[in-house]
Amino acid sequence: MKSLFKLAALGCLIMLPLLAGAQQKDNSQKPKYANLTFVPTADEVIDKMFEMGKITKNDVMFDLGCGDNRICFKAAKKFGCKGVGLDINPVRIREAMDWAEKMNVGLLVETRHGDALNVKDISDATVVVMYMFPEFMNLWEPVAKAKLKPGTRILSHDYSFSNWEPDQTVIVRSSTREHKVHMWTVKKK
Ligand SMILES: C[S@@+](CC[C@H](N)C(=O)[O-])C[C@H]1O[C@@H](n2cnc3c(N)ncnc32)[C@H](O)[C@@H]1O
Repeated sequence: MKSLFKLAALGCLIMLPLLAGAQQKDNSQKPKYANLTFVPTADEVIDKMFEMGKITKNDVMFDLGCGDNRICFKAAKKFGCKGVGLDINPVRIREAMDWAEKMNVGLLVETRHGDALNVKDISDATVVVMYMFPEFMNLWEPVAKAKLKPGTRILSHDYSFSNWEPDQTVIVRSSTREHKVHMWTVKKK
């Protein structure tokens, strides 16, 4: 009986560090920011973003926190440009599938389930759109400065960066309220 206890205790000693390691691994994969509030950007604001960003068919648009990815689908339909939308909430990805069917833009638009702060090919973007709270903007600012190529336009609905003044801010009125659209163009380093 005693040796059975000894064996169980030894098993626990071996398993504990393994379990602790697994726990640590999970924490390291946890996104730094995940606020699942979904408020779709109004059509009037989307049109103003397209106008300010001077979108053409040569653009590659990324929507960070894309919701149902309607902005990329609309841009692809209107201009024929490529789009990649990322959202952390799988419910939004399913909704994006409905938009894909409705907009019928073939392979121009991709919708990914993932963390918008950790996008492996973000430097392919020529335009980045977003409607994210200030906490995200603060985390995204150094990534944008490090990874976006010169000439890339960033268009943000309502929220700005803390340490990077926009080149342009325009007020847009929708049926419900006034909105801001901020635009930055990434400069050469
Ligand atoms: C206010 S909605 C904006 C939706 C869309 N971009 C628009 O303007 O219509 C913000 C979205 O960001 C998503 N989100 C929050 N944190 C995220 C993260 N770390 N990575 C990817 N998506 C995230 C939420 O699930 C939500 O759908």
